[in-house]
Amino acid sequence: MTLRVRFDIADTSLAPEGKLRIEWADRQMPVLRQIRERFARERPIEGQRVAACLHVTTETANLMRTLKAGGAEVALCASNPLSTQDDVAASLVEDEGVPVFAICGEDRDTYYSHVHAVLDIEPTTTMDDGADLVSTVHSERTELIDGIRAGTEETTTGVIRLRSMAESGDLRYPIFAVNDAMTKHLFDNRFGTGQSTIDGIIRATNILLAGRTVVVCGFGMCGRGVAMRARGMGARVIVCEVDELRALEAAMEGYQVLPVAEAAEVGDVFITVAGNTSVIRGEHIAAMKDGAILGNSGHFDVEIDLDDLRGAAQSSRQVRPSLEEFQMKDGRRIYLLGEGRLVNLAAAEGHPASVMDMSFANQALCSEFIAGSPGNFDLAVHAVPQEIDRRVAKLKLAAMGIEIDELTEKQKQYLSSWRQGT
Ligand code: ADE
Repeated sequence: MTLRVRFDIADTSLAPEGKLRIEWADRQMPVLRQIRERFARERPIEGQRVAACLHVTTETANLMRTLKAGGAEVALCASNPLSTQDDVAASLVEDEGVPVFAICGEDRDTYYSHVHAVLDIEPTTTMDDGADLVSTVHSERTELIDGIRAGTEETTTGVIRLRSMAESGDLRYPIFAVNDAMTKHLFDNRFGTGQSTIDGIIRATNILLAGRTVVVCGFGMCGRGVAMRARGMGARVIVCEVDELRALEAAMEGYQVLPVAEAAEVGDVFITVAGNTSVIRGEHIAAMKDGAILGNSGHFDVEIDLDDLRGAAQSSRQVRPSLEEFQMKDGRRIYLLGEGRLVNLAAAEGHPASVMDMSFANQALCSEFIAGSPGNFDLAVHAVPQEIDRRVAKLKLAAMGIEIDELTEKQKQYLSSWRQGT
């Protein structure tokens, strides 16, 4: 398939800078690199066309290189209008020959025109982070469905969207939930989001977290990571939850657990990671202290009700990159990080490469699995095969130089027998 337009990026002259940063990330991605080297020898995805909608970062660039090495044709657009690293997009186009359609700060229409552009390769696989490709295929590009063997989904929010499509009978091709692999969500969601969210807050504000009250809304894997790292920086952490089990877990981890309405009165920094809409809304914003800082680390920019925030403000101004000050009608000032979009990608560089190593190793191995299968999966959201998950864990341990014990024969027998008790 020939694309109508070869690429649409901000500035091809940024390529040398991007290339250096991609190489640096590659040094932290030994698992993906090994897969790439094998892919180059074996070409297991030859002839596949992968349309990818992912954050355009150095780590994603190394995934694209891996898929190409395996023989696939790839095209890439952004999964968030603010997360594109323009130098990386440039290097992918100039050095790797990857058609990239992504410009940092693109508006909604451009974002979707880019989603359509990658779909023009007539994919055999879609690779999503948030399910915008799948939803566009199902709503506006249904002629592509018969040619698509399967898709993969990178993030919790996307998996939730896709499960609801499957449950309502609307899903027309199978999906592999990369997010749900152990070697993805236990590490990327927790350690990746934890570190990169704090990184984004600090880059945008340069505030000291020690001694401040940080409110974390949502205690899934990502929320746990953010709470853990905020506490590690010396903040007093309050967790807000709607799920009783998660709330209980947060309480026993030693966090104060409060409803958002109560936390609103005492928090200095608020981070939403709930995966839901209007988690922080007008009534909460009205109760906040002068100087409160609001940020979101959930996939979509719906968690802080921006209409409510704007509605209660009389003016706003950009005070630093990724930091907007709202002058409220009652005289307080409230600060918003990265337009309420993923603060770790809007104000920092996303998760560090060594954790994306595992997430993207899962993506690459799933692509291989999809290409090597007869393509007759049920129309459902499937788990990543356990064998892939374990392989990624083994490769990562080996790359980290960590050896572990093996069960002895006596131990194996013990585990497989029910006869030995008290
Ligand atoms: N999601 C979170 N961090 C990321 C990164 N560095 N690259 C791609 N996707 C991401």
